[in-house]
Amino acid sequence: MPLAARYGIVSDIHANYTALKVALDHLQAQGVDKILCLGDLVGYGAEPFECIQAVKDKPNVLTIAGNHDRQVIGDKDARMRKTAAKVLDWTADNISPSNARFLRQIPQGMTVDDTFILVHGSLVERDAYILSAQEISKNLNCMINDFPGMKICFFGHTHIPMLIGTKAVINDLRETKGFKLDRNDVYLINPGSVGQPRDKCPLASFAIFDAENWTVTFVRKPYDFRLAGKLIIDNGLPEKFARRLAVGV
Ligand SMILES: [Fe+2]
Repeated sequence: MPLAARYGIVSDIHANYTALKVALDHLQAQGVDKILCLGDLVGYGAEPFECIQAVKDKPNVLTIAGNHDRQVIGDKDARMRKTAAKVLDWTADNISPSNARFLRQIPQGMTVDDTFILVHGSLVERDAYILSAQEISKNLNCMINDFPGMKICFFGHTHIPMLIGTKAVINDLRETKGFKLDRNDVYLINPGSVGQPRDKCPLASFAIFDAENWTVTFVRKPYDFRLAGKLIIDNGLPEKFARRLAVGV
């Protein structure tokens, strides 16, 4: 499959359609050809139906499942915190049967255009967090040894935007920044979280990969986090999930 010119990368939307709309509008304005969605469409937030509708049945959007998506359809994660699990019980009651079917049929991971790998957590262990030097090195080794020819593994789950190469790791991405990549190197790239950023920056976080110039741009955009928080509270979901949106934790 030939590469598209530009890919939009989104992850960890967490039922925050207020933020997702801002991200999708920006990606459309930038003329991306394909959108890669790295999972956790639902959980924490109050707009799961709208978020699933925004990606399902869209031929140019490829989506994989995150641990919150799996929990909604009964694949329970024993490590899930009680309050987060409570929101997912509410979510199961607030999405349509066709939305639930969509969550059931999305894959855990995939390769795209013979060049990219998509995982939610980690290449090595499904729900591990790629944050520590040890996890970074395990995943880079796995990529090089087990996925020859693949250039970039896009991952999510940590809600922290990161550009990981074999020579450097960049994780201070609290404003929009672009990077030229080396076509001969391999990378692990986390676009950050659209709907619940945790790098102490409340701006929605996502990325654009330009396959013609081999560049990645980490994009940070303001959205109405007060509205997203109000929807959480109005729907009786834990208030702490509303409060954290204001500070990005
Ligand atoms: Fe997440």
